[in-house]
Amino acid sequence: MSDGFQIKVEKTAQSNLSKIDFSNLPFGKFYADHMFVCDFQDGVWKDARIVPFQNLSLSPASLCLHYGQLIFEGLKAYRNVDGEIVLFRPEQHLERINKSAHRLCMAQLTEEVFMGGLLELLKIDSEWVPKDPDSSLYIRPFMIATDVGIGVTPSLTYQFIILTSPVSKYYSAPVKVVFEDHFSRAAEGGIGFSKTAGNYAASLYPTKKAVEKGYNQLIWTDSKEHKYIEESGTMNIMFVINDTLITPALHDSILSGITRDSILTLAKDWGYKVEERKISVDEIVEALKNNKVQDAFGTGTAAVVAHFALIGHDGVDYELPPIESRTFSNKMKKTLLDIRLGKVEDEHKWVYVVK
Ligand code: COI
Repeated sequence: MSDGFQIKVEKTAQSNLSKIDFSNLPFGKFYADHMFVCDFQDGVWKDARIVPFQNLSLSPASLCLHYGQLIFEGLKAYRNVDGEIVLFRPEQHLERINKSAHRLCMAQLTEEVFMGGLLELLKIDSEWVPKDPDSSLYIRPFMIATDVGIGVTPSLTYQFIILTSPVSKYYSAPVKVVFEDHFSRAAEGGIGFSKTAGNYAASLYPTKKAVEKGYNQLIWTDSKEHKYIEESGTMNIMFVINDTLITPALHDSILSGITRDSILTLAKDWGYKVEERKISVDEIVEALKNNKVQDAFGTGTAAVVAHFALIGHDGVDYELPPIESRTFSNKMKKTLLDIRLGKVEDEHKWVYVVK
């Protein structure tokens, strides 16, 4: 961090830590005592500060509230077997938020703001990192456009905030998913690869429809023909068929998941055949009909590995093999956890120990 980058700290007078039941942490319900805030003005990041978690004060004409200039990330802090706080590939999250920023015409974040702010925040709220290996402190860095004015134009000012939330498992049971053949979350040439509010807003209505039919999430398909698989819910998607791990190749309507990349890397290390390519709905339905799908799951920071219980298509629900028999995803889930906990060697140097 450069000498010029100072973070002012104002600690809360009243910690909420003692009110939290760490054995019951629904996703996104509780927030740690402090947040990091930094403003972008006149082309530079300034006034970095850690303040008690609090409401924002924004003009109702702030650009972020009208045209969706809002980007975010999601990463997690864990405790390893030695009780140290660790992060998983945080530099990848900085890289990705800057790709999102570029696409949304927003300011680029520097390492000193993103990592400097995060590390200082974790130091102050270290007691909020759960000790249970199934739980973690979910970290939500986000940036909003703060120019006042409702003309459709990129903002010149931004605010970057990091808040944290102790969480347990994202899904408590295997997920029931169904192919979406009409609505889209993202389109070619659009913003699907960016982690930005609009993609999630677009997903809400079709997901609500699927939930009304008894599913938990959708499998998103391409917006032109609804022929090719893209993602599932808020996650990347993977299948194991004929002992081969297959996942849609990245393009501009698919988020470049950091868990996705980690799984592909480990699968190759283990000698699995890995294919990143176009996967048609027909191919998967055919494999489901012939009981050839050995494993199917979503991957993301929040859920890590979310097994699918069944896949719905055209009014038929195809049950997937029992979870206990899913050799690949069970081993992957355990290995990712063991790497974070420091129980196995971190060959790829993914774990960042917070000093
Ligand atoms: C994540 O896995 O971090 C996500 O983006 C899911 C989140 C939208 C809850």
